[in-house]
Amino acid sequence: MKPTVFITRKLPDEIVAPLKEKFIVRMWDSEDVAVTDYVLREEIAQVDALWSMISDTIDRGMLESATNLRVISNMAVGFNNIDIEAAKEKGIIMTNTPDVLTETTADLAFGLLLATARRFNTAEKELRQGGWLSWTPMGFTGMDVHGTTLGIIGMGRIGEAVARRAKGFNMQVLYHNRNRKPEAEETYGVTFAELDDLLKRADHVVILVPFTEETKGMIGERELSLMKKTATLISVSRGGIVDESALYDALNNKTIFAAGLDVFETEPIPLRHPLLTLPNVTAVPHIGSASVETRRAMMRLNVEAIINVLEGKEPENRVV
Ligand code: GLV
Repeated sequence: MKPTVFITRKLPDEIVAPLKEKFIVRMWDSEDVAVTDYVLREEIAQVDALWSMISDTIDRGMLESATNLRVISNMAVGFNNIDIEAAKEKGIIMTNTPDVLTETTADLAFGLLLATARRFNTAEKELRQGGWLSWTPMGFTGMDVHGTTLGIIGMGRIGEAVARRAKGFNMQVLYHNRNRKPEAEETYGVTFAELDDLLKRADHVVILVPFTEETKGMIGERELSLMKKTATLISVSRGGIVDESALYDALNNKTIFAAGLDVFETEPIPLRHPLLTLPNVTAVPHIGSASVETRRAMMRLNVEAIINVLEGKEPENRVV
């Protein structure tokens, strides 16, 4: 009997073809709507391989009911949507899709920084609504990015790629990370700072740490109060690292200048969310890795990982 693969989202035929040649492939039939919890649970209990998305929460209960599951290949670099301890205990291999998305995600982080600091959202909205009445000396003014101090929280691969971009903008780069990164300091000329110090000194702060017990709520009321009144905060790794209600207060009271958000505590963010009422929020729908090339490269990694595990080989990008 051929092994069975379940893919939790409808994907293009040419991407899935190599899997179909070897295995029985079942696929959730919508591109836009996530698989239901019920179907996910049913499939996990039966299949040999699962290709999951970050929108799928795969919990211990689901994994405990798995009888044949050998691999979960998550289409993301982050994997906080999966209980990896439970997967490990069951001997289920879990893979992710790092590296191929590093530069694309850094582009988004830097682009969101520019858009937020220079208020693209307000300027475009006003233009479309007829609010651009004439060139005005102080109209639509924002904060400079070039020549300022950038604080990067989380100096992993994407952090380093953001630091390289910042150097091109003549920025001084401070970083905070669990461990100091002497090679990054040397290669990119970045300077380590304790978190509070970074928050006090940076003109712009980019958050790139993964979501863990340690980083959950890492940027709350106290941390936001340390930031400059003119500072922007860019959040592009996972929602839940920044406390959204503290962020709302800081932005509403203008104790910080603006925030650019690609990730949210609840995704999709509810349309009535208070943050979406603020003009100093630039919000995009979790699109860090969303370029055609990069999404295809990520999918190729998922295909390779599933084939490797089901054919008894060690996959690349194994997390557990
Ligand atoms: C996206 O958020 C990812 O982790 O790849």
